[in-house]
Amino acid sequence: MLEGKVALVTGAGGGIGRDFALAMAAKGAKVVVNDLGTSVKGEGSDASAAQKVVDEIKKLKGNAVASTDSVADWTAANRIVQCALDTFGRIDIVVNNAGILRDRFFFNLSPEDWRAVIDVHLNGSFYVARAAAPHFKSQESGCYVHMTSTSGLVGNLGQANYSAAKLGIVGLSKSIALDMAKYHVRSNCIAPFAWSRMIGSIPTETEDQKERVAKLKSLETAKIAPLAVFLSSDFSKDISGQIFAVRANEIFLMSQNRPLRSVHRAEGWTPETVASHAIPALRAHFYPLDRSQDIFSWDPL
Ligand code: NAI
Repeated sequence: MLEGKVALVTGAGGGIGRDFALAMAAKGAKVVVNDLGTSVKGEGSDASAAQKVVDEIKKLKGNAVASTDSVADWTAANRIVQCALDTFGRIDIVVNNAGILRDRFFFNLSPEDWRAVIDVHLNGSFYVARAAAPHFKSQESGCYVHMTSTSGLVGNLGQANYSAAKLGIVGLSKSIALDMAKYHVRSNCIAPFAWSRMIGSIPTETEDQKERVAKLKSLETAKIAPLAVFLSSDFSKDISGQIFAVRANEIFLMSQNRPLRSVHRAEGWTPETVASHAIPALRAHFYPLDRSQDIFSWDPL
């Protein structure tokens, strides 16, 4: 399915990204396994994380190279893309998957924890995507897969930095899809549900939290890879600007924002008529303060 293609997967030293790299190599892609080898919070680095996955791929007779640069820096992100060009001579697929978490309730969220998460997820996705863009444009082909989250798409407690970054990535993906459509470049998002060290960092203090996390443990990271491989292949050449979610054996197409209802007054509005007319007419369609788990309320299948 990916024979002859070169794939760059960020954050591929573990978790979901490692399975992407293995699955893409198994389908014939040459893979740049990028990973800083950092902690869940984004502290420290370890070059062995990316190399281990490269060794695994090579053991299975695949072709891969390690890249240990950080996505969160423009110069380093350019080096990651350059690694694909220097090693394999081209780039066809960019998977923006690297991520960290610094969960805090909003009233405790420090500017440092805000910035660190935005830097890796949103800025990092932009940097790597942008570094690959001139190559995609000139070859008139290429595809992006970006990891978003239902924490951004729906909501979650204590994740203002992460939710803002992940919803920002959705806007980035749609914009890339629009701007690069004429060069046959595609861009889609996946919101995964999978048991990884990132999810393992969720606090489990209450019985409710313990029960929820126990269920999450059954969600294998490898279950996300088939959709990512498909979206990276020529079999999906007419699919762009979409948002999918994957939870074990379920695949979802997620909605995108459109007007739900409108009200109109020929003479215009005053604050009083907004209160007496617009809001009562619109209220039936207001969204509750849902979290991801309120919407994905049944056990994973
Ligand atoms: P993970 O923590 O197992 O893997 C993330 C990888 O990114 C790590 O190997 C880490 O070293 C690497 N990384 C972190 N900062 C980096 C940087 N600056 N440059 C290069 N590499 C860096 O996490 P997991 O669960 O595999 O997450 C993968 C992606 O999926 C993330 O974008 C995450 O936000 C997203 N996601 C995961 C969910 C899940 O249920 N596991 C839910 C929703 C989204």
